[in-house]
Amino acid sequence: MSSITLIGTGNMARAIGTLAVTGGNTVEVMGRDQAKADNLANTLGGETTTGKWGTVPAGDIVITALLYDGVVPVVAEYGDALADKVIVDISNPFNATFDGLAHGEETSIAQEAAKIAPVGTSVVKAFNTIFRNVLEKGRPNVFLAGDNAQAKASVVAFIESLGLRALDVGGLKMAHWLEGMGLVTVGLAGNGVGHWDFALGVDEFTG
Ligand SMILES: NC(=O)c1ccc[n+]([C@@H]2O[C@H](COP(=O)([O-])OP(=O)(O)OC[C@H]3O[C@@H](n4cnc5c(N)ncnc54)[C@H](OP(=O)(O)O)[C@@H]3O)[C@@H](O)[C@H]2O)c1
Repeated sequence: MSSITLIGTGNMARAIGTLAVTGGNTVEVMGRDQAKADNLANTLGGETTTGKWGTVPAGDIVITALLYDGVVPVVAEYGDALADKVIVDISNPFNATFDGLAHGEETSIAQEAAKIAPVGTSVVKAFNTIFRNVLEKGRPNVFLAGDNAQAKASVVAFIESLGLRALDVGGLKMAHWLEGMGLVTVGLAGNGVGHWDFALGVDEFTG
């Protein structure tokens, strides 16, 4: 089983945290608002603990469940406290009209976080293509991208502990296109699918 720290106390932290506790993982919550962190830890139950904002996370895997524009500043603020951790960026940097990425370049929040993360820290993009409500009630595929094979293996093990299928799309450069998949998912919700109770996945036709 994995030990994870959730940085952030919102909807995705609750959804991933709930699955993580059910899957038998060790969970710590950190929030810039300590009261929100304490509340979430109570809600998640089990042996969930809280940590003090900005200190070394207890988890080997640190999930930044933050709005996209908070991820890089928070990774910078934590600095060496994140040394040797595996950071999982779940963010969707959508523009105001949900038809482009806010950074407007062929990069991603995960790549930008990796640039400023301490030496020895790996960044993996995952979970961003899945709506929170689907994580709460479904068994969606989880796409991930990252450069470090060992870090990805640990994230894959964590995802599988949640009862979900992990699908590696390649190196961290692919995080940009996972962010694009996030946009496609929102586009489908507003158009072709017409609701939010679905997730993108892979069907294999090997027979
Ligand atoms: N919701 C979904 O269906 C979904 C699906 C896939 C991916 N995502 C991505 O997951 C991430 C979290 O989404 P969410 O739905 O959980 O959002 P949320 O419910 O609004 O929670 C956001 C969390 O980020 C914290 N935060 C925001 N800016 C911060 C900053 N600058 N410094 C420190 N903490 C900051 C908030 O803290 P305070 O409470 O103190 O403000 C809160 O704990 C987003 O990047 C989103 O794009 C969401």
